[in-house]
Amino acid sequence: MSQEKKQAILRNAAILSLIFVVTAVTVVLGMMLTLKKLNVFDQYGKIIALTVATFVLMAVFYVYLNYSSNSRSLESMSNAKLVAVAYTAIVIGILLSCATGSYLSWYALPLAFVSLIVGILIRVRVGVMATVVSGMAVMIISPATEFAENLQAVIPIVLGVFTAMLSGFIMAFLIRKRYSRFKLTWGALIVSLAMMPFSALMTVLYTLDARTVLNNAIFTAMGNMLAVAVITASLPLYERIFNVWTDFRLQELITLQQPLLKKLNEEAPGTFSHSMAVANLAESCAVAIGINPYMARACGYFHDIGKSKNPQFFIENQKDGYNPHDELIPEVSVNMITRHTTAGYEMLKEAHMPAEICKAALEHHGDSPVSYFYMKVKSITEGDVDNKEFCYEGPCPTTKYSAIIMICDICEAMFRAKPPEDMVSLEKAVDGVVKSRLTEGQLDDCGLTMKDLKLIKQTICRAIPASMHKRIDYDKAKERR
Ligand SMILES: [Fe+2]
Ligand SMILES: [Fe+2]
Repeated sequence: MSQEKKQAILRNAAILSLIFVVTAVTVVLGMMLTLKKLNVFDQYGKIIALTVATFVLMAVFYVYLNYSSNSRSLESMSNAKLVAVAYTAIVIGILLSCATGSYLSWYALPLAFVSLIVGILIRVRVGVMATVVSGMAVMIISPATEFAENLQAVIPIVLGVFTAMLSGFIMAFLIRKRYSRFKLTWGALIVSLAMMPFSALMTVLYTLDARTVLNNAIFTAMGNMLAVAVITASLPLYERIFNVWTDFRLQELITLQQPLLKKLNEEAPGTFSHSMAVANLAESCAVAIGINPYMARACGYFHDIGKSKNPQFFIENQKDGYNPHDELIPEVSVNMITRHTTAGYEMLKEAHMPAEICKAALEHHGDSPVSYFYMKVKSITEGDVDNKEFCYEGPCPTTKYSAIIMICDICEAMFRAKPPEDMVSLEKAVDGVVKSRLTEGQLDDCGLTMKDLKLIKQTICRAIPASMHKRIDYDKAKERR
């Protein structure tokens, strides 16, 4: 057996042991809450049986989580972080449900907390599975379900848990769309109210007592509202403690009040406006290929942040015809220009920005040369000039975001300097940009497929005319075709 396999088995065994301990503690606390007494240790047989049964559920979920973590969309989250986020949510969900179930009603379970928090922080599908695990664990732990003498007592618990789980599933669907925090809260509250008739229907299955039916409907709404309240309070904590960049957190990052962006606007207004334009293009491209548009926009906003260290060395910020490069030798000029990638990377790292944004700043020029100065030196030098001295340090883009920024960055600067005359020249130029980057090998490690690149080209060709506020001659384009 290879060393790697042995390590993986040991790691999984250690995590499962930890999950077993957490399960045992959860069962004991759950029993204390449902039995409304602290001393439950005299029922050690029951504790062991419930712990084993609940652990089986938890272990199956761990296998599912491991399977999910192999998918590309969860690559940015470490395994330990996935386990920590999912299991803390499940444990909180179980304990809150045991408490509300025994002290209030088995219809007031805030299981939607689990589906929302796991769905937002990890993935909707994982959130749904975590809700199933929590719901079934509540059914196991709530002592009435365990060989209850009175079978009648089990029915409300099972139906209550089922209603709470369904609320969780519906709320999980809410987060499939990219809402703001405010809209999500409203949506969840509406679902809470909409679940009331369903809850009444579930009660009618075992009693026709109007008061019980009404009470259960109200308790269902209360349980869901409690879930929303706990989410609202705990989500920012989860985001900070586990350093997860949710859509909500990214939305806060891309407001123009963000200190680094404010600095860029004040000190390098030309770069600022270029970054805004790149961000718009990048966001559209991200939508087209199905990656996070907020992350793409943020990468666009911050990709040239390093230029704020010495803005006057970049043409977009030069005023009154003064160009400091006129007083410098090309080698120094190139150094001043290429260092904006590493400087930006350091600034963003210091500001604890997401890895994707830091990488976009570092990688958006890859290891390509600063052609203007290379050509200038070549024209005044006899013999060969080493191309490497005029190149960015790299590395080449390693994420889809970095690659999108690379392409959008070149297109934006190129069309700002010389707007395209018609659609044919626009398409030709965008195609040329992508082709040249492909031939240079700049896009080898970024994970974009040919289909992605085609969609990106189409998106840019659609977005550029609108951003230039220029009427492109489509008829002329058709004629030329
Ligand atoms: Fe740049
Ligand atoms: Fe740029």
